[in-house]
Amino acid sequence: MSYPADSGHLLLQDPRYDYPVVERGEGIYVYDGAGKRYIDGTAGAGNVILGHGRGRIARIMARQAETLAFVFTSHFANPVAAELAGRLAEKAPGRLNHVYFVSGGSEGVETSLKLARLYHLRRGQGQKHQVIARWSSYHGATLGALSTTGSGVRHAFSPWLAGFEHIDPCLPRACLFDGCGETCTLACARELERAIVRAGPENVAAFVAEPVSLAGGAPGIPPADYFPRIREICDRYGVLWIADEVVTGFGRTGRFFAVRHWDAVPDIVAFGKGVSSGYLPMGGALFTDEIRQVLEDKKEPFPHVFTYVNNPLAARVGLTVLDLMEDEGIVERSAAMGEYLLDRIRTLRSHPMVGDVRGLGMLVGFEVVSNREPYTYFPPSLKVHERLHRHLIRRGLSISATGGPGDGSPGDSVRIFPPLVITRAEIDEMVEMLDEALTAVRRQIERE
Ligand SMILES: Cc1ncc(COP(=O)(O)O)c(C=O)c1O
Repeated sequence: MSYPADSGHLLLQDPRYDYPVVERGEGIYVYDGAGKRYIDGTAGAGNVILGHGRGRIARIMARQAETLAFVFTSHFANPVAAELAGRLAEKAPGRLNHVYFVSGGSEGVETSLKLARLYHLRRGQGQKHQVIARWSSYHGATLGALSTTGSGVRHAFSPWLAGFEHIDPCLPRACLFDGCGETCTLACARELERAIVRAGPENVAAFVAEPVSLAGGAPGIPPADYFPRIREICDRYGVLWIADEVVTGFGRTGRFFAVRHWDAVPDIVAFGKGVSSGYLPMGGALFTDEIRQVLEDKKEPFPHVFTYVNNPLAARVGLTVLDLMEDEGIVERSAAMGEYLLDRIRTLRSHPMVGDVRGLGMLVGFEVVSNREPYTYFPPSLKVHERLHRHLIRRGLSISATGGPGDGSPGDSVRIFPPLVITRAEIDEMVEMLDEALTAVRRQIERE
């Protein structure tokens, strides 16, 4: 028997949205009860990197569930989580050799923040508590991660949030600093230094940033020297740099971790999503030898436990994901197919509505504009992003369309981050649908 979207009892996120009810998935596609097919152009929430319906993951999960589904991390260790931690340490740059597994990206960010706080506390620098993050960012829904987040989703809960500082992000096309453009002087990185000095370096524990920012719209890709400069500034003031790789990790940008694009290594990497390819909730924090040493110096525990920390079943899924990624050359594939996807999306510039197109690996997007010269966004009241989304979902393509950074300023954009197993023909199919949707929505707006 098929149930409607909410059966009258299930809270769904948006009461205005008529949710398609999906019952099955295979590869880049999901299917509703009537057999209608949707391309999952956002790999679920960016997590289903290996595609839907992977039998090998399901079979190995079932075996692990029979062998050992759960042990409580406060009472027992297990070899599966230990093995996955070792495998991730091999993938990570520098001395990021230690892992604490949790149940998702928000928990991974929370864990990273607490690791940073405890690191300073146990080194006798208990005053270091302040966190600096960036506007136009998303770091998760739990209150620490939401305090770090710099976008509109904060508003309803702002009385509960920690008073973390936010600086402007590195968004090359929409740079808010003087002197940017052809002659970028990395004013956005120097802004971090100013914020640290303002807060007092003795008070600042950590700086948090997504390697490629997404919350403001199409991917914001920093110039090659942004993160090296961030590294220098953090070192100068004893501030830990936390890279939020929840979306960008596990091959999404054409490298295993996105920070591998640049000559700079963070102190902590928060991860989630791709680690389990959507087959179970999982996330975590990777951190350096030095942090581990300081943490355990006085033989005190890490006072931050969730029931599902270092869970063996999720870890087995993580190991299987890594095996499949290696067998199928997923990171290299993401780099190569990402270039193809970006080239194909660039062809949509034949539509005057398509503004700046940006991408890194299989994380691609474009701004939707009413005019390219002068560069003008549509008024937010037209909700162009919602029109595009509605049209595409009817046609059978699910993408991520946003209406700006969430602070009321305009800026519709479309983001596409499909499963990393997508083929050229499937990319072509997706781009054709986008092409048609842009024409249809333009006509609709002109008719009004
Ligand atoms: C960059 C980033 N960090 C953290 C999160 C939170 O992850 P989760 O929703 O798995 O808790 C997300 C989720 O989209 C994200 O995009």
